[in-house]
Amino acid sequence: MSGLAGKLARLIAAVGPISVADYMSLVLSDPEHGYYTTRTAIGLDGDFITAPEISQMFGELIGIWCVATYEALGRPKRLTLVELGPGRGTLMADLLRAGRIDPGFARAVEVHLVEISPELRRRQAERLAGLASPVWHDRIDDLPAGPLIVVANEFFDALPIRQFMRTGRGWRERVVGLDADGNLAFGIGAAAPDPALLPAGALEAPEGAVAEINRPAEAIVETLAHRLVQHGGAALIFDYGHLRSGFGETLQAVRAHRYADPLRQPGECDLTAHVDFDRLARAAAAGGAAVLGPVTQGDFLLAVGLAERAGALGAGKDAAGQQAIVAAVERLAGPEEMGTLFKAMALTHPPMPLPGF
Ligand SMILES: C[S@@+](CC[C@H](N)C(=O)[O-])C[C@H]1O[C@@H](n2cnc3c(N)ncnc32)[C@H](O)[C@@H]1O
Repeated sequence: MSGLAGKLARLIAAVGPISVADYMSLVLSDPEHGYYTTRTAIGLDGDFITAPEISQMFGELIGIWCVATYEALGRPKRLTLVELGPGRGTLMADLLRAGRIDPGFARAVEVHLVEISPELRRRQAERLAGLASPVWHDRIDDLPAGPLIVVANEFFDALPIRQFMRTGRGWRERVVGLDADGNLAFGIGAAAPDPALLPAGALEAPEGAVAEINRPAEAIVETLAHRLVQHGGAALIFDYGHLRSGFGETLQAVRAHRYADPLRQPGECDLTAHVDFDRLARAAAAGGAAVLGPVTQGDFLLAVGLAERAGALGAGKDAAGQQAIVAAVERLAGPEEMGTLFKAMALTHPPMPLPGF
């Protein structure tokens, strides 16, 4: 056993089974072998594809949304424009290009990127050359003061979740340990979890039911909400996930666009879990922000002009070009594709109506 699998096996042999959250955190961010430390696997040639990589329309529509939000905020002189987990920088590049429609917005924005991957930071710098001079941060706590707009696409699903399972002895935390052959294997911890971590209805849930909780995501949303309350602004979040808290296992590994076993090839597959928008909305409200949505990504994109943008982009293109645009619209907003599984939610302070919700 080599690389991260060996490192994890040695750690577990020394300290005992670790939580799913610790496992996910090490697999994604281990400084030596972590998935986001060593790989840049977004895109057709990588492990998974994201909305901004499907079509420029996604980032452009978010750019227009940001301009409308800047307007609603009273056109501040300086605006901190933040992206959490910007991947290859494509969304920010398309957003900034579309934002040029309003020269006041273009002049006011200062781009800040929160990114842990050194390799992706390099890609972002290349992609944004000539468009912005971004400042990178490891954490949102380091963002500067002042009015802000934050965007995040498929960021929260990459943060570590804890899992709990209903067993014959009640609820227990799911852990990662070693089987008789020394391979990584799921197990059940001994202690009962704090009931506040479990969704409503936990006592009636059948044996085998799984509940997941993403504490880092909730902490980040609550911190963002505090910042919005202090400085004014809005945050726009897209991710796959559910509208209501409930039961079900959603931890998944993906490599080369195929599902994989989350415990095999750690560090070589992307590991994610669905986002619980219900809990995120409650964290935002606890931080004092108003919440818009969540709505489905399809509804959001159509409400902010996806069909109109597709029509304009397709004008003058040949049949193949138009077909590609229609396919991108279907991919982004179609109910069988990203349109329903993905959700959009916004946080604002002061409370204000914004396009798409
Ligand atoms: C699934 S990718 C999404 C990329 C991009 N938003 C897109 O839509 O193509 C997740 C992004 O979040 C970054 N990331 C993951 N965990 C992070 C963390 N704890 N702090 C900062 N960035 C993180 C990754 O390096 C990557 O840029």
